[in-house]
Amino acid sequence: MIYLDNAATSWPKPPGVLKAMTGFMEGIGANPGRSGHRLSVDAARVIFGAREKISGLFSSGVPSRVLFTSNATSALNLALRGFLKKGANVLTTGMEHNSVMRTLNDLKSQGISYTIIPTSPRGACDPQSIPGLITRDTVLIVVNHGSNVNGTVQDIRAIGKIAKERGVLLLVDAAQTAGILDIDMKRDTVDMLAFTGHKALFGPQGTGGLVLGPGMDHVRLRTILTGGTGSKSESELQPDFLPDKYESGTPNTVGIAGLAAGIDFILDTGLDAIRSRESEHYEFLRSSLEKIDRVKVLPPGGTEHPLATISFVIEGKSPAEAGLALDESYSIMCRVGMHCSPLSHRTIGTFPHGTVRLSPGFFTSREELSQTVEAIREISSHN
Ligand SMILES: Cc1ncc(COP(=O)(O)O)c(C=O)c1O
Repeated sequence: MIYLDNAATSWPKPPGVLKAMTGFMEGIGANPGRSGHRLSVDAARVIFGAREKISGLFSSGVPSRVLFTSNATSALNLALRGFLKKGANVLTTGMEHNSVMRTLNDLKSQGISYTIIPTSPRGACDPQSIPGLITRDTVLIVVNHGSNVNGTVQDIRAIGKIAKERGVLLLVDAAQTAGILDIDMKRDTVDMLAFTGHKALFGPQGTGGLVLGPGMDHVRLRTILTGGTGSKSESELQPDFLPDKYESGTPNTVGIAGLAAGIDFILDTGLDAIRSRESEHYEFLRSSLEKIDRVKVLPPGGTEHPLATISFVIEGKSPAEAGLALDESYSIMCRVGMHCSPLSHRTIGTFPHGTVRLSPGFFTSREELSQTVEAIREISSHN
């Protein structure tokens, strides 16, 4: 079995992640911050430790600015629904995931509009076109940092600089880049960063969060979830302080314990080593696939700042057919079709059939990639 679907969820996880989760379930198990007993205090320490690690990883300032959610989708919903008001305009790229596009389209009924920043068929949006698109209603720019379709990386530092100069906030969807690329919310002037725990951060599914940058005043962000927080229990009103304002209900403490261990693995390994493994995977796949007749890598020639994620089509075969053959005949797991991002496929010219996507991860070997290339060569040679 060869697993090449790390852009959907990373697998396997580092052994420390499983150990931390089992350790929590066996030795702590309690509800954090709800009761005063020692197990509850230990559970709260697990959560606080993870907040500190995430805050350090993204240079967000104080740990209480890390708000846990169940995935990137709920973090993006919190940022968009909590921040935008009637009449607001949002700028976004042509490479967004449906977690942003479906939310923005839903918000149209509340008088909120969006404008797509011109994005080339290679997948990169041009930051220099942003000033000309900003109107007096524009309050936010939302950018998918790394494409889940073809690995294109947007220049968030350049976009952040323009946003700051024009008094517009920047929300970054780091679902595909957190744990691979160096993200510094202070340096890149990112106001809100949505991350998911189960991809390159090596945590389990059901973890993620929204990180508020140092310049983001949380008074401007309404909560979209209310209820018990374990704090101010005498009050029937939602607390207004961080992070409790946004974190009602019992958290996924066992998942957060695993996420913290995933971040430890990243810090021990080093972002540079992880990033160069991604680039090596990408370059090997791109150069090998481009040599196969009838295979077209998107974009041709590859992306400039690649994650390991690569998309291709085989002339005369639908992506669905190719994906089925890879799974059934070669036990290679990949993803085909739209990848929850029809907008990206319109931008790169592969709508409505989509592409075959290979997304190797840190634990993928060169041997596995060579076998995959051979399988694709065989599949593409059959009529
Ligand atoms: C770019 C991007 N944004 C958002 C998401 C949503 O992440 P989650 O499924 O963890 O909510 C994904 C997941 O594939 C993604 O690739």
